Amino acid sequence: MAIMSTPTTFRPVLERIAEEIERTPGSGRPADYIPALAARDPRRFGMAVAEPDGTVYGVGDWREPFSAQSITKVFTLALDLAREGDALWEHVGREPSGNPFNSLVQLEYENGIPRNPFINAGALVVTDRLHTRTGDAAGELLAFLRAESGNPDLTHDEEVAASEAAHGDRNAALAHFMASYGNIDNPVPVLLEQYFRQCSVTASCADLALATGFLARHGIRADGTRLLSRSRAKQVNAVMLTCGTYDAAGDFAHRVGLPGKSGVGGGIIAVVPGHCTLCVWSPGLDERGNSVAGVAALDRFTTLTGLSVF
Ligand code: DON
Repeated sequence: MAIMSTPTTFRPVLERIAEEIERTPGSGRPADYIPALAARDPRRFGMAVAEPDGTVYGVGDWREPFSAQSITKVFTLALDLAREGDALWEHVGREPSGNPFNSLVQLEYENGIPRNPFINAGALVVTDRLHTRTGDAAGELLAFLRAESGNPDLTHDEEVAASEAAHGDRNAALAHFMASYGNIDNPVPVLLEQYFRQCSVTASCADLALATGFLARHGIRADGTRLLSRSRAKQVNAVMLTCGTYDAAGDFAHRVGLPGKSGVGGGIIAVVPGHCTLCVWSPGLDERGNSVAGVAALDRFTTLTGLSVF
């Protein structure tokens, strides 16, 4: 098998992967616990690769907007770390949970401190802290995504946010439980509104691959300013590798070998530090909430290109 590692060869690799995915459609199902997401066609597939200079390539539905959901947790983590630094880690851990993304079980044993910033409990803590510091966590996130993607049309999807709020008992339970340990600053209804708006951001593979670029550029934003120190950018990549796909993080590291973050809208972002960022989208999910075709496509990408963090 040819090992291709120069960026100019990304396009043929993407075309080959799209053909393979089309021949073997995945078995996954769209998320249905957020009713507004259930209607997406599981056969849709798009993939984009962005180089550190902002050049972006794609195949399939790579310009089709989809619900970013938990992918946004990478950006709120980075935005909060940029403001409060290591004090965040007193409120949320950085260990894989080995449990589903919306699980409650560890929180009581571990005194209301979530295992990591990517399970729902941990993401709620990060959004709460970002909201305290900015007064508008979801707005801060949107402004960042617009700037980094160069797409001023990115927006929250009010219908998705309302749909999730109407079925948000589990996130409400997580937030109230952590509040009882003093680990949430804002009133729970305020936090939940911010969190559901955050998760409802609609963006394409091209947008999200570009917006993730600061993690390939060692903390540098698209405009050349620094968001995170080199060391903090490495730490965010490390938490993505170990926790970004929840109780499938070991399998994802084994198959893909890159820092990655999934969302129940069917998207996954991934980082090859120093080289490129990726975003793949296909709405059919496995039982752990990760896109079946998305993981398969990233698996093929790292196999065909030889790119890896290992
Ligand atoms: O809070 C939730 O359940 C959703 N807004 C986000 C969950 C999610 O994307 C998990 N990722 N695979």
